[in-house]
Amino acid sequence: MSQRSLEVFYEPNRRLAHAHGLQGYNAGYAEARGVATFDQYQRNLVWRLLGDVEIGPQSTVLDVGCGIGGPSGWIYERYRPERLIGIEYCSTSVRIAEERWAGKPHRPIFLQGDAHCLPVPDQSVDVIFNLESALHYADKRKFVSECLRALKPGGVLCLGDITTRCKRTFAVLGTLNLLASQFSTHARLWDAPDYLETFESIGFQLIRHERVTRQSADSLRDGLDEVSRGSNWSNARGYRGRFFYLWFMERLLRHRLLNYDLFALAKPRGGGTS
Ligand SMILES: C[S@@+](CC[C@H](N)C(=O)[O-])C[C@H]1O[C@@H](n2cnc3c(N)ncnc32)[C@H](O)[C@@H]1O
Repeated sequence: MSQRSLEVFYEPNRRLAHAHGLQGYNAGYAEARGVATFDQYQRNLVWRLLGDVEIGPQSTVLDVGCGIGGPSGWIYERYRPERLIGIEYCSTSVRIAEERWAGKPHRPIFLQGDAHCLPVPDQSVDVIFNLESALHYADKRKFVSECLRALKPGGVLCLGDITTRCKRTFAVLGTLNLLASQFSTHARLWDAPDYLETFESIGFQLIRHERVTRQSADSLRDGLDEVSRGSNWSNARGYRGRFFYLWFMERLLRHRLLNYDLFALAKPRGGGTS
């Protein structure tokens, strides 16, 4: 996948986020409908994925596929870890994340990089956070192995992703990826058992697995209502297509053709790299 074609896919997200003051690109988590803003739902999903994972003042945290840096910033502000590094494939998103923190002495760092080859030494990271990004990775097994390599023994990987039981159908839709358009998702979806088998075979221990499909569908539904209330559609050029794309995604989640799975995994204390 080229950086350019992923940039083209995420351009409408950037416009939508900019127009509505959003800092995240994820679907969010709503315990019930109509109780909070979409920004709050996006934060809720971050806290739900992290659960009670420990992050302290000495911790090093990686946010892989950090987008425009919302979740990295929220984690940084809540826990004040020693180091928080956001890694993101699209340079434009890295620039937006950087700009938000420009001039601040204590802040996360943002790097352009690829999840398949994490730019950190072996056994140097306490927590890897990876939210709604692995759906894009061509080789998820390589990414999970990279996480095992980068984590300290006892370190934790928190991975949240969109999954499906209908992999063949979505693979056919994947032919759209041959074009660099805003509808080329570059998604290569797995089902939850694919993840669970991979985690186990690579040497991770499962701490938690939770399916939050209904909560993500409710969050998206409220988010879309919020956007359409705040939109003058003549000014919404550049993200109208993304609105309908997200509407379609909400339908797929609602009917369980897509699912939203959250996993927390520990690297065993006696374990090495695979
Ligand atoms: C749906 S967005 C989620 C962003 C962020 N985690 C959030 O919750 O706001 C997925 C992000 O993963 C990034 N991404 C996709 N493939 C990547 C790769 N191989 N390495 C690093 N980032 C990648 C995309 O550019 C995009 O910013």
